[in-house]
Amino acid sequence: MPESVFLAGDPDWWRNAVVYQVYPRSFADSNGDGLGDIRGVTSRVDYLANLGVDAVWLSPFYPSPLADGGYDVSDYRDVDPRLGTLDDVDRMIAACHEQGIRVFVDIVPNHSSDQHAWFRAALLSPPGSPERARYIFREGRGESGEIPPNNWASHFGPTGWTRTTNPDGTPGEWYLHLFAPEQPDFNWDNPEVVEDFQKTIRFWSDRGVDGFRIDVAHALTKDMSEPYPSYPTGASYELESIPSDGSHHLFDRDETIEIYRGWRQIFNSYDPPRVAVAEAGVPIDRLNRYASSETLGQSFNFALFNTPWSAQEYQSIIASSLSQATAHGSSSTWALSNHDVVRHATRFGLPEGTDLNQWLLTDGTKPELNRELGVGRARAVTMMLLALPGSTYLYQGEELGLFEVADLPAQALQDPIWERSEHVRKGRDGCRVPLAWKSDGSSFGFGSDCSHLPQPAWFGALSVASQDGVAGSTLEMYRDALRLRKSLNHSEHLAWVDSSRDVLHFSRADGWHNLTNFGSEAVAMPAGDVILSSSPLAGKELPANTTVWIRVRRQASAKDRVRLPSEDCSPRASK
Ligand code: NOJ
Repeated sequence: MPESVFLAGDPDWWRNAVVYQVYPRSFADSNGDGLGDIRGVTSRVDYLANLGVDAVWLSPFYPSPLADGGYDVSDYRDVDPRLGTLDDVDRMIAACHEQGIRVFVDIVPNHSSDQHAWFRAALLSPPGSPERARYIFREGRGESGEIPPNNWASHFGPTGWTRTTNPDGTPGEWYLHLFAPEQPDFNWDNPEVVEDFQKTIRFWSDRGVDGFRIDVAHALTKDMSEPYPSYPTGASYELESIPSDGSHHLFDRDETIEIYRGWRQIFNSYDPPRVAVAEAGVPIDRLNRYASSETLGQSFNFALFNTPWSAQEYQSIIASSLSQATAHGSSSTWALSNHDVVRHATRFGLPEGTDLNQWLLTDGTKPELNRELGVGRARAVTMMLLALPGSTYLYQGEELGLFEVADLPAQALQDPIWERSEHVRKGRDGCRVPLAWKSDGSSFGFGSDCSHLPQPAWFGALSVASQDGVAGSTLEMYRDALRLRKSLNHSEHLAWVDSSRDVLHFSRADGWHNLTNFGSEAVAMPAGDVILSSSPLAGKELPANTTVWIRVRRQASAKDRVRLPSEDCSPRASK
């Protein structure tokens, strides 16, 4: 392991960090096999430093049969040989740290791959054996056990149970998988599972990893006592169906929170303490259970993934997120995209209420995408989020203004959702297409001549090379915003400022104001020095779908003095 892999410094660095998500298979391919890899990430650390991010989060790079893009892990403490070696990861961490960039890795604790040594051993062992007790095996119902133990669904559809075949070829028990059949759920009541994940966290912390993103953090422990409740919602468990008293059999259980208390002790045993962010699909007022300083510390807030285009709606979400985080000693998180959702430059360019899955099934032709509007709004909202207190999570390629690749041919699709839904849901491959680094060439500089998902011709015009140094490009806007944010974001104070109904206006310390125009007409801007705008300004007016940062030099009035979010987070009334 290279020396000086540990980054010291402010233990609260994570509270206002900009974290860049790398989907390793689609970021940069160092050996030309069409698959992004760890050396590819290392080769682009200068790019990340130049972008100005504080940390990178790498989606799983562990050995995996890729039944679910790497979220089916067969060994939690190793690297997929197609992506590199542990030495490569050590070098990547050291290269990031040399540039002051922290590193998060993904922990997938709800399920493993069916190729994990433990699951293979379980299949070779009899019912009731210690090997089977690491997963959730049950007898089926019906005369010969041919009916699954209950009606619980898989997120990817349809059933959450798969029947095993005994070594002698006869049908056997069933096992639970909340995702694909290749992703059996662990039995978190088994101390062996608890200990093994603690070992994994120590393993990566010892190698210098600074933080962890926890996959499906609200799952893990389950109440498997009978009678089983019926969850007839098909392929998805809606947030609304999760009661707020912790009584759901599958999600958001108190025992799961206890597991994170144990992890917190491990995080805090390092200097500086390791940090974590939960991917927890629970109602907003339950997120703090995962984000408390006694558990994971921070939690993703996915509310902005489908917020209607309205200043009031955004303000309401921002205000409640800030007050929740402040009340629980955490800091808010903001994100517009990740590897699971249609890219936000596309969402913003489609008519409000578009069914995104239906749109994908038309290969992105109906309704028609308004690219100019989409990227304009994407830039405006990104700048607005970067002006807020809290951490912003960026997804690779959004700094290029990338759109969803909606017309991937069926034979190219890799997401298990496509097959499991019997071709009714197209899945998430359209946001996972390998990045374009150059404006031409057979894989636009991703690797040599191939990429594991086909890149469209329009990627060239949005490539890094096409935008690097180009004034007004989305890439340069991100670079400017991240650089300026570092010098402006001194405190976590925020105050709402009364403004026009369509403008979301708030101020931060030292006269830093953010105005975002959600309306369709330009509006007058307050007097002040323009720091940055998301699109060109028209004189003293703020155009529609635009954000501006202004330094206002007048004395703060009582109305807009800087206040802590906890003092005033209620959305302003519509006028
Ligand atoms: C959430 C991950 O973000 C997603 O990509 C994955 O399919 C599921 N968890 C299952 O691990």
